[in-house]
Amino acid sequence: ASSPTGCPVSSEAATFDPFDAPYQLDPAEALRWSREQEPVFYSPKLGYWVVSRYDDIKAIFRDNLTFSPSIALEKITPPSDEALAVLKRYDYGMNRTLVNEDEPAHMARRRELLDAFTPEALEAHAPMVRRLVRDKLDAIIDRGRADLVAEMFWEVPLTVALHFLGVPEEDMEQLRRFSVAHTLNTWGRPSPEQQVEVAEGVGKFWQYSGQVLAKMQAQPHGHGWMYDMIEKNRQKPDVVTDNYLHSMMMAIIVAAHETTALATANAFRQLLSRPAVWAELCENPELIPAAAEECLRHSGSVVAWRRIATRDVEVGGVTLPEGGKILMVTASANHDPSHFENPDELDIYRDNAVDHLTFGYGSHQCMGKNLGRMEMRIFLEEFTRRLPHLELEEQAFTFLPNTSFRGPEAVWVRWDPASNPERRDP
Ligand code: HEM
Repeated sequence: ASSPTGCPVSSEAATFDPFDAPYQLDPAEALRWSREQEPVFYSPKLGYWVVSRYDDIKAIFRDNLTFSPSIALEKITPPSDEALAVLKRYDYGMNRTLVNEDEPAHMARRRELLDAFTPEALEAHAPMVRRLVRDKLDAIIDRGRADLVAEMFWEVPLTVALHFLGVPEEDMEQLRRFSVAHTLNTWGRPSPEQQVEVAEGVGKFWQYSGQVLAKMQAQPHGHGWMYDMIEKNRQKPDVVTDNYLHSMMMAIIVAAHETTALATANAFRQLLSRPAVWAELCENPELIPAAAEECLRHSGSVVAWRRIATRDVEVGGVTLPEGGKILMVTASANHDPSHFENPDELDIYRDNAVDHLTFGYGSHQCMGKNLGRMEMRIFLEEFTRRLPHLELEEQAFTFLPNTSFRGPEAVWVRWDPASNPERRDP
């Protein structure tokens, strides 16, 4: 096999398939050979240039003119004609948001939309997050066994996202139902039958989010980030465009929801599988923010992100052609020993954990990172206080096959309700 530049590809590169078990189970480990021997390679199976080292990935993130994010939300498995026909029937028009918008439009828009993310604005949501977590915990606390993903890690971040956006309560249930197929649709390898089914879901989601948006536009005094966008769209329709509003209404639910849900599931899995570390957090809750950050580094919920080269350009000694599509495996960067000492170890005292690339880097870096962090912190605070004796059950973790979003589909835990601190000391 050879790359589009005509260079032959190594046997590891020729067989690399991100939909195979090794990458799905542990993307950082699956790319150890690449970090060590061939940090930039062309994957004929994927049609992408794969980049695995920390410094190379950071350099790509830093230059969003040479490395355009325009393909960030493109379907990695090209849609079938049937699926396209279904989408057309729904008048599907999802286009640029923020994460896949080029300059100068991106920065002009991002700058208009920062107010919702100031520390004070985010802190105002903390009581809502805590109430949601507490209610969910109340529901299971006497049960002794639960799958935390099904019980709350999935639903709480979705509800938080909908509140953050200002979506009317009565529309939350419906949006909840649509917000599932996207990971598969964008970053997965759906079968032809699945493609049609997913296209139906995506088409309905597009139409429904348009209806919710129209309803919000008709309400002059709403609160939430979506209302900020609606207001900016009125003031500066060329910066915050109509299509942006509708596209964002749909994309942001996925961006804010699945990322945080999966990050929380990863963190609980990692921390509970190290009982000594968990016990330390229970004794010293002030360690929780650092522990959450280290979990984002060690087992992030976004493991790869995409760019496209706008000119011939060298990355890590390899020349990529103009139009070359790039998969940056951020999970691999986060395990690069040239930046993180003993990178495979989960060390809650690591002093540079925050350098991880799970939120991206540079001008597109995740705007919601502090909201995601807050949710993880509150989950961990409530659990370490109310269920310090929580234990991870023996289980085989499974993942939805895709290149970019990663977290276990279930996290089964158990505990003895008779030992709940609030029973002993109500
Ligand atoms: C962008 C990850 C939570 C809103 C991004 C990017 C990543 C990411 C990898 C692309 C960065 C780049 O291209 O450099 C995550 C993770 C989260 C999370 C791992 C949770 C643990 C959230 C939440 C929100 C949010 C809760 C919502 C409010 C956004 C937005 C962008 C973005 C608006 C686009 C920023 C831009 O292009 O200027 N996120 N995200 N994210 N994220 Fe998040």
